[in-house]
Amino acid sequence: MRISVIGTGYLGAVHAAGMAELGFDVVGVDVDAAKIETLNQARMPFYEPEFEPLLAKHVGKGLRFTTDIAEIADADVHFICVGTPQRRDSPAADMSAVDGSVDAMIPFLKDGSLVVGKSTVPVGTAERLAERIEVATPESVTVELAWNPEFLREGFAVQDTLHPDRLVLGVNGDNAESILREVYARTIAEDQTPVVVTDLPTAELVKVAANSFLATKISFINAMAEIAELTGADVTQLADAIGHDDRIGRKFLNAGVGFGGGCLPKDIRAFSARAAELGAGQSVAFLHEVDAINQRRRDHVVNLVRTHLGSLAGRRVAVLGAAFKPNSDDVRDSPALSIAGQLHLSGARVTVYDPKAMDNAARIFPTLDYADSASAAVEGAEAVLHLTEWPEFRELDPEQLAASVATKLIIDGRNVLDREAYRNAGWTYVGLGRP
Ligand code: UDX
Repeated sequence: MRISVIGTGYLGAVHAAGMAELGFDVVGVDVDAAKIETLNQARMPFYEPEFEPLLAKHVGKGLRFTTDIAEIADADVHFICVGTPQRRDSPAADMSAVDGSVDAMIPFLKDGSLVVGKSTVPVGTAERLAERIEVATPESVTVELAWNPEFLREGFAVQDTLHPDRLVLGVNGDNAESILREVYARTIAEDQTPVVVTDLPTAELVKVAANSFLATKISFINAMAEIAELTGADVTQLADAIGHDDRIGRKFLNAGVGFGGGCLPKDIRAFSARAAELGAGQSVAFLHEVDAINQRRRDHVVNLVRTHLGSLAGRRVAVLGAAFKPNSDDVRDSPALSIAGQLHLSGARVTVYDPKAMDNAARIFPTLDYADSASAAVEGAEAVLHLTEWPEFRELDPEQLAASVATKLIIDGRNVLDREAYRNAGWTYVGLGRP
């Protein structure tokens, strides 16, 4: 079986390599020539653990990348993995890459082939695309369309691709299910992966529902942090206590600076926009609140710095972390960078350090100062902000750091540093939602 993957971002590039690892002949297609060249040199265009060895193993053998869409012509299965970012002019998803890639593929789809959507899309997209393909292909060519949403997490993309915790197959034709079961046969056999076979709209909704639930869980615990801050309660102990209930579970109950990244924030907004179009805005009205709580956490950290320092103008602030989460260089909608930016715009002198995301951060926010290491970033700082929970920040020695800062004030935006160790070294330690 030959496979094509359209779009080589975080999702597509890793999916293409994953398909090669499963033994298929794979071509990855993207309009970005620089990215294609990087991938063809078996180098990763973004940071993702375990990804480069997978590229090294397969590029030039079963895996190649191209900007020429015509090269998909001999593929039997085509995965659509292009982005659906938030539109500039509204909270809805920008569908131009999905629509454009389907239009570009149509002339090269052979009879009996299968188009599989993986991108996160507004419900109803798959049926619309199926019609578009049917209308545009000649009668002699029958092409089925399926939806197979992707749940990979950045930082675990390779693991999640090769060993997903479930497979969702949205199908409405005769062959799609058996073709997809063949594609994922090894995964299903080796891991006993649960497979949910369903219709197209359910498959599309599963993805946005899952991400909405995760975002809600995080904002729920952050709302509890707001209450804890006013009452002297400790949100981390609260999370432990409620998390022992299996029905609730401890995962995704870490209060802090809130969620960011290329998925959760834009997915809840796109879902709200789509629900409103369907006349069901009320059904997901709570997602506006989820978003609002999340945004408030960022403002709260800026206000904490202002409160502790008395003013922001000219004050020296060190920000540890720029990526939206550890093990990633992705700064899209990153709480860390957003807080650093707000402090800078309020007149503070902000120095940022991140182990992997410095280039991406500097591209978006060139006016911030960037340091080569955590210890260089904190030099002379009047406040240190820990905003992305990279393991190396946990290893920092509070005694050593204390020697180079101007004021021993640390705000732990992730609630993971050793509070006692900082306090014993003379620091004022401020957690979020903690006394
Ligand atoms: C998410 C979904 O997890 C994944 O299934 C989907 O395919 C894409 O979106 P990702 O964006 O890679 O994945 O990151 P994730 O690990 O889910 O974290 C999202 C954000 O939530 C991060 O900013 C993280 O720091 C934050 N978070 C997570 C919290 O603030 N608290 C938590 O308890 C968990």
